[in-house]
Amino acid sequence: MKVGVFIPIGNNGWLLSENAPQYKPSFELNKEITLSAERYGMDFALSMIKLRGFGGKTEFWDHNLESFTLMAGLAAVTSKIQLFATAASLVMPPAIVARMASTIDSISNGRFGLNLVTGWQRPEYAQMGMWPGDQFFGTRYAYLSEYIQVLRDLWGTGKSDFKGEHFQMDDCRLSPRPQAAMKVICAGQSDAGMAFSARYADYNFCFGKGVNTPTAFKPAADKLIEATKKTGRHHVKSYVLMMVIAAETDEAARAKWEHYKAGADQEAIAWLGEQGAADTKSGADTNVRQMADPTSAVNINMGTLVGSFASVARMLDEVATVPGTEGVLLTFDDFVQGVRDFGEHIQPLMVSRVDADSPVPSRVVALQEAA
Ligand SMILES: Cc1cc2nc3c(=O)[nH]c(=O)nc-3n(C[C@H](O)[C@H](O)[C@H](O)COP(=O)(O)O)c2cc1C
Repeated sequence: MKVGVFIPIGNNGWLLSENAPQYKPSFELNKEITLSAERYGMDFALSMIKLRGFGGKTEFWDHNLESFTLMAGLAAVTSKIQLFATAASLVMPPAIVARMASTIDSISNGRFGLNLVTGWQRPEYAQMGMWPGDQFFGTRYAYLSEYIQVLRDLWGTGKSDFKGEHFQMDDCRLSPRPQAAMKVICAGQSDAGMAFSARYADYNFCFGKGVNTPTAFKPAADKLIEATKKTGRHHVKSYVLMMVIAAETDEAARAKWEHYKAGADQEAIAWLGEQGAADTKSGADTNVRQMADPTSAVNINMGTLVGSFASVARMLDEVATVPGTEGVLLTFDDFVQGVRDFGEHIQPLMVSRVDADSPVPSRVVALQEAA
């Protein structure tokens, strides 16, 4: 199974809690985390784009770097790990994004790809006068479909004459083109989002669900399998987003999780709830609705694995058993410590992380050594 890290481009990572580690995003912090992930053989690092925070006592996500420029910096200091930036497609014309991607492809020697988002939070765009109106909730994947056709034209041929409702290219050029096939991620969860991924993307991200229920996201993976049956692009697989809260023992990890929940930033969570409810056009089962569910909004309701290193390794192996799943995207309560613990204590116990140079799963080696 592939493993990536969802690096903390925004303050406090993914915990809306006064009791969680409080920190601002910086290049140095993200560099330390990404270099550490690379050292431990993690496959990729992804940063999101977030243009407006949730406020509250923790000023949640009020402090955010920009995704492409951050990944360009990281491309220059890494050598192996794959890097993905997120394109805010509403405010970044595709011909510019295609060229930025070519540039980071050059900096990284072909290790770069894109996460394409439509945007789901009106204030991010309304604040700069660039929200097209709430009808966009219903048409956003039609917009993104045109967008990606322009990208693919430019990356594939260096030229686009695409004529659509939203984009009209007129002998638009791109050179240099990327040296490696440009991989595109989408994280659509609605019917339209999944249909988009099945038709155009290389991977689809979905939210894990629940606490210590590592296979509960299976309906989303099944939905993608159904969508790819319609397009015949069966290589498009699911990657699931999970937060890891690990410690030496189950009890110590559980105590951390309870502590974070006890300090939940209710004001920021309330704002998230409002934003999540704004999209009434994309169907009931979107990730956004899940994010805003009040039951465990302290980490935006992402799937959460709480336990000892061995318990988390076992649960990650369970993730890998869900049909159509190729990878996992991890967040941590403390990213610096979390990536190190993953690399040193969790990954070596995972059957789904076979050593690159050895046909023997690393967990088997560890178990043999322990015996
Ligand atoms: C791993 C992951 C990363 C995401 N990154 C972003 C992001 O950077 N910016 C953003 O506006 N939305 C982001 N989203 C939200 C998705 O793009 C998408 O809008 C959401 O999952 C809801 O699905 P839907 O658009 O099909 O309703 C992300 C979602 C996931 C699961």
